[in-house]
Amino acid sequence: MAESACPHHFTEIDSAAEDGCPYPFVKADPMAMPGEFAWLREHRPITRVTLPSGDQAWLVTRYDDVKAVLSDTRFSRDLGRPGAARMSTAIGFGNSGNPFADPPVHTRWRGLVAKAFTPRQVEHLRPRVREIVDELIDQMIDTGSPAELMEGLAFPLPIKVLCEMIGVPVEDHVRFRDWVHDMLSSSLTSEQRSGAAMALIEYSRALTVAKRDEPTDDLLGRLIAVRDENDGRLDDDELFITIMTLLVAGYKTTAAQLGKAMLTLFRHPEQLAALRDDPSLIDSAVEETLRYSPPGGGVGISRYATADLEVGGVVIPEGTTVIVARHAANRDGAHFPDGESFDVRRPTANQHLTFGAGPAFCFGAPLARMELRIAIETLLRRMPGLRLAVPEDQVPWTEDTAAQAPEAVPIAWETEMAIISQGASNSWRI
Ligand code: HEM
Repeated sequence: MAESACPHHFTEIDSAAEDGCPYPFVKADPMAMPGEFAWLREHRPITRVTLPSGDQAWLVTRYDDVKAVLSDTRFSRDLGRPGAARMSTAIGFGNSGNPFADPPVHTRWRGLVAKAFTPRQVEHLRPRVREIVDELIDQMIDTGSPAELMEGLAFPLPIKVLCEMIGVPVEDHVRFRDWVHDMLSSSLTSEQRSGAAMALIEYSRALTVAKRDEPTDDLLGRLIAVRDENDGRLDDDELFITIMTLLVAGYKTTAAQLGKAMLTLFRHPEQLAALRDDPSLIDSAVEETLRYSPPGGGVGISRYATADLEVGGVVIPEGTTVIVARHAANRDGAHFPDGESFDVRRPTANQHLTFGAGPAFCFGAPLARMELRIAIETLLRRMPGLRLAVPEDQVPWTEDTAAQAPEAVPIAWETEMAIISQGASNSWRI
């Protein structure tokens, strides 16, 4: 990347005033990677930035450095520490209230949850995930082309799967889903959001009591049953916080990723064609969409330096808030050759840092991967000629920079009638 790709303000402010450029970077195209990242990786891989609150943080953009920070627990996940930078004056950073942020509490919690939420148990959900995807796509096909992907599939899929995995009784799925959706909705007032959160808390407590009385073989039932080596178990508050964490971490992330993955494929028609022609590419294609277009607006994961810590030859002073730009790291040419290109055949795509790294690596990665693979493979198989139904600049995006996601992805496909009228004999595809 040529130096001219770096905006004027960057070189001047960062080197002269030493107070860093404004962050997050503004981008006109929500699907694009801000040009600043490529420039920074090359010239200032660890640099100071100024957040909208006016607070300072340090930004890390190279793959190896991002991985090093995420793997080192001396970079604390507790952003509620005194002096930690705030993103805006209204809110701090994520994780400021996470009681399981750091060892040893995190280690114990993670060990217990890992016994109840294993990749093998996730694998058991596969047939049900297939059914849910098919049912949702059936509904879109029945209503006819065009349809809206986020409402029709991307939002309902992860929340239905979470309900079933946790063990929410079927008759409560709709209200449970509505509470989770409202709790996380940026378009509602804070009163409405906390009202939904309170309803969810009360319901989850009652569900926990019921499952203690009558044990069930679902995630909540298993979380109630697990014991650590000292026969310790998760108490009611810990159980409840675990369920909320799974809901917050697993719902909108997966929905946003499905929307962004499809938009990325639509933007690269030759890559979409390659995947259509060879469905065995689905695993690497999903990894490549995770690498190239991760969910969120590219802000990054934040940590707090609990000591003077060296990363990539730079000493980060104790008390510094560090933002690791996994989006930037995912395009680092030193790790991913030709990292700015989208290539569904990329053999190393699964080394991306979209699910984090180190001791807090995403618990739900096997589940998210399974949902994304089944959803994308089924969409392409059952909706021939699948395409974006509107010009790309008419796709609405959420306002929230941190959680930036498409709000609606209108899609169109060839219907059976259209195929027959074109004289095609491939109605089997529907
Ligand atoms: C595409 C979808 C997803 C993405 C991009 C994603 C990303 C991440 C990332 C980056 C972290 C690490 C945060 C850190 O280092 O501070 C994380 C942690 C976590 N994720 Fe995910 N996630 C996704 C889906 C899910 C799903 C489906 C679940 C569960 C149902 C889930 C559950 C969790 C949990 C519980 C943690 C905390 C782990 C810990 O504290 O040890 N995630 N996720």
